[in-house]
Amino acid sequence: MSSDETGSVSMEQALRPSSWEEYVGQEAVKENLRILISAAKERGTAPEHVLFYGPPGLGKTTLAHLIARELGGSVRSTSGPAIERVGDLAALLSNLVPGDILFIDEIHRLSRVIEEVLYPAMESSSLNIIIGKGPSARTLELPLPPFTLVAATTRVADLSAPLRSRFSGGTFRLEFYSEDDIAKIVRRSAKILDVKIDEAGVKEIAKRSRATPRTSNYLLKRARDYAQLKRQPLTKETVSEALAMLEIDELGLTPLDRKLLIALMDRFAGGPAGVNALAAALAEEPETLSEVHEPFLLQLGLIERTPRGRVATPKAYSHVGKKPPATQPLL
Ligand SMILES: Nc1ncnc2c1ncn2[C@@H]1O[C@H](COP(=O)(O)OP(=O)(O)OP(=O)(O)O)[C@@H](O)[C@H]1O
Ligand SMILES: [Mg+2]
Repeated sequence: MSSDETGSVSMEQALRPSSWEEYVGQEAVKENLRILISAAKERGTAPEHVLFYGPPGLGKTTLAHLIARELGGSVRSTSGPAIERVGDLAALLSNLVPGDILFIDEIHRLSRVIEEVLYPAMESSSLNIIIGKGPSARTLELPLPPFTLVAATTRVADLSAPLRSRFSGGTFRLEFYSEDDIAKIVRRSAKILDVKIDEAGVKEIAKRSRATPRTSNYLLKRARDYAQLKRQPLTKETVSEALAMLEIDELGLTPLDRKLLIALMDRFAGGPAGVNALAAALAEEPETLSEVHEPFLLQLGLIERTPRGRVATPKAYSHVGKKPPATQPLL
């Protein structure tokens, strides 16, 4: 990587894996994609459409870029809310060249009208455009070059069933990463950033990264800044000091994660509480809680989801140093 890449945007790009080897973990997803892509390449066709879902920062966009690279094309990126009119989609689709992929981020936010136009495009590589209104309206069918749609979402449940069923190449859920895998990512990023960090420091970052690559890169950069200004080597102690400044605790919880747990305990007697009620209590968006915060709290076993809402577990009480209520909520 060239050393003149000092801007934060290009640094983001520098840290993004550019080969399957650099893409740590998610082995099952990678293997399935490799088969899908190789078989399609052998047949000389475009791989079928794929959908990635999972919490933010786990590597969905990165996979889209790796697929395009493998196909020798580029990624044409857009997002659900950005496609406002049928013409926007038509322009994107008709400009694709073989090997390109169309990447639609936040696909759950696509409008119904656009969805309807997308279906035939996904199925038969043609665009049906309605011209005119009323009895004289007619449908114009525009053939498209074969293409692969790669879509990503943090809210797979919000996708309509017909849309979901059209990802014939597969729907893949990205998993949280193991601490070992995050440690690998931290070591690689440290090399790219030209940062010296000892092994205990790497482990400390890995432990507190919410099992998420994007978070580990963020924490590494913040710890590097702190070490640099303090003229300290980047060790476990320095990492801990830097993370204490960011109010990130030993489990990697942020202040909002802890506020959520405490609100659940103090305002809802440990739950069950619905996400809207919790969001109102915290003056946050329900989506922020359910997409960004809850998945990791569930992963750690600090909350549980029940049909009646979220419940704080005994582990959550002991983590925030509170006594669980005498009558435990039903889990
Ligand atoms: N498997 C991985 N190996 C190494 N680094 C990774 C991996 N996955 C993600 N990263 C790093 O984390 C960053 C965030 O990943 P990416 O942007 O692909 O996440 P995302 O799932 O698309 O997130 P969002 O839902 O917020 O769009 C990448 O820039 C990359 O540096
Ligand atoms: Mg993304």
